[in-house]
Amino acid sequence: MSTETTKKDFLFDVQKIKSDFPILQRKINGHRLVYLDSGASTQKPIEVIDAHTDYFKKINSNIHRGLHTLAEDATNAYEKTRSHIAKFIGGTKTSEIIFTAGTTESINLVAYTWGETNIAEGDEIVITDMEHHANLVPWVMLAKRKNAIIKRIPITDEGRLDLSDIQNIITEKTKLVSLTHMSNVLGTVNPIKEIVQIAHQKGAVVLADGAQSVPHMPVDVVDLDVDFYAFSAHKMLGPTGVGVLYGKEDILDKMPPFNMGGEMISEVSFERITWAELPHKFEAGTPNIAGVVTFDTALTYLENIGMENIHAYETKLTAYAIKKLIQIDGLKIQGPYNTINRGGAVSFTDKNLHPHDISTFLDSKGIAIRAGHHCAQTLMKRMRTIATARASLYIYNDEADIDALHDELFAMRRYFGHE
Ligand code: ALA
Repeated sequence: MSTETTKKDFLFDVQKIKSDFPILQRKINGHRLVYLDSGASTQKPIEVIDAHTDYFKKINSNIHRGLHTLAEDATNAYEKTRSHIAKFIGGTKTSEIIFTAGTTESINLVAYTWGETNIAEGDEIVITDMEHHANLVPWVMLAKRKNAIIKRIPITDEGRLDLSDIQNIITEKTKLVSLTHMSNVLGTVNPIKEIVQIAHQKGAVVLADGAQSVPHMPVDVVDLDVDFYAFSAHKMLGPTGVGVLYGKEDILDKMPPFNMGGEMISEVSFERITWAELPHKFEAGTPNIAGVVTFDTALTYLENIGMENIHAYETKLTAYAIKKLIQIDGLKIQGPYNTINRGGAVSFTDKNLHPHDISTFLDSKGIAIRAGHHCAQTLMKRMRTIATARASLYIYNDEADIDALHDELFAMRRYFGHE
């Protein structure tokens, strides 16, 4: 696909995209694999798989240390991905892009560095009622260590943020607002820009968890004016074990380092240690070089399709999925039915069947979904359930995949005598 292709004349060739993913040729329990668990981790196109192998075949070496050719090639490839990410999320400085092991580590980095130095007794940390544990546990534990207060933005029964009392939730005492950009359970896309404006007026900083949003829509962190933004490579065609933390330079500059060791220092003596410049201050030790280098190819693959095109395609497919699933008696979609500001994580419950049984039945037909609490136990409580089944969509899914899901859910109800 050409990078020059515009939104208007772009033809989303899902069959071509499917053919780029070798794993989709696999048979599961004798059936075609219908992969509907991209919210957990996406599959990888052949270009990304080849890039990983090529890295080890051609340039494997440590970075930022050696003066030999391989070390320079590896360093350049690693730093190329950093520049690519800076461009991909809105044109930030490369000093503002920190590589981590994943979204969870990115958020923990902020909690243990910015949090430890900026949160004091009585301060307020605002999260929401739809957070993944990765954006909840670090803040609850920080609040416990500091005697700070956790406040929550509630959600409506439809599964959207209820902002009616926001001026009383985010106050002058609020130091941090940390919220998901897109819920991994409900699919809801939150109005980050609006919340950032309110938080900044009150003097608070904002962290957005972009694990479920960056893979699916254009994201411009400069336009959002968010202070921190976290996401993972493996949910956007890249390898596992690579995450990104974007942070505004002036804030990162004032934060102490997270991990201590090689590469994050400037000068070391027994008397005095000084830190490396950004972003290296936050990248101690040998990072996941192969993963970071490979991530570059994943970003290019997404850009060649175009994030606008991906977003438009997935919105259409999500609408189709919702339309099909609501036809099944006894099935309830947990999350907005309307696809405005909604992504393709479609959770559902069945009044007679446990989500684990739904997932096991579907797996016997080659369909992979996720079932459970989705690392969001407090959200499950709010939804008055203990678990949901979740189909989560990506660029290689099509209406035939949704039809397969619908038909097997229908067959399942008949099989268990709940027609
Ligand atoms: N956070 C990932 C999910 O929602 C693992 O499945």
